[in-house]
Amino acid sequence: MLTIRACRDDDAAGVGRLIARTYTAFNLGFATPDQRAALLGPFRFAESTEPAHRAAIAAAITAPEVLVAEEAGAIVGVLRGGRLDGRGRTVLQSLFVDAEHHRRGVGRRLVERFEQTCRTQGVTRIKLASTLYALPFYEALGYQRSTGVRTGRSFQGSGLPYQPMKKILG
Ligand SMILES: CC(C)(COP(=O)(O)OP(=O)(O)OC[C@H]1O[C@@H](n2cnc3c(N)ncnc32)[C@H](O)[C@@H]1OP(=O)(O)O)[C@@H](O)C(=O)NCCC(=O)NCCS
Repeated sequence: MLTIRACRDDDAAGVGRLIARTYTAFNLGFATPDQRAALLGPFRFAESTEPAHRAAIAAAITAPEVLVAEEAGAIVGVLRGGRLDGRGRTVLQSLFVDAEHHRRGVGRRLVERFEQTCRTQGVTRIKLASTLYALPFYEALGYQRSTGVRTGRSFQGSGLPYQPMKKILG
């Protein structure tokens, strides 16, 4: 059974590994090994047990709202969101679902839970920077492109293509 719940401190290492492998496999195919390491930031140390690496990963996961999807005791998805941008708009910051669990509604469940929390807080609009891979997913959930494709930074890396998107919550 799939459960959506708040991320706990002891989830950080598992969440870090999930982000590292999913981001590498689906979003960083264009990058050279050096670029990939820079774009991964602390997540390039996801397999490390060094306390400093673990702390950097825990810090990178932190967000106002961090939700995980758990199935059979394993973390299979994570959503980070709730940051406000410079204009006070609520941001869905990142979303990753383990490859083995794609197309089973895990991403949809995480986004719907986040939207539900936003509504209870009186938030009427969500913005996000979609990877090119995730575009059809966000469009299926009612998000719309706000501009053309842009390129941006991720940790120490640059050149990451993304599609700005938004949704007005009904
Ligand atoms: C994007 C992502 C989070 C989607 O997660 P998911 O759990 O597989 O998505 P869902 O099963 O909830 O999909 C819901 C709907 O979105 C659409 N969709 C999802 N993935 C799709 C894909 N690869 N191609 C086309 N449509 C897709 C479908 O309409 C799907 O419904 P259906 O399966 O009934 O047809 C997942 O593919 C992922 O982690 N990708 C790599 C990381 C990434 O790019 N994250 C986005 C960062 S902003």
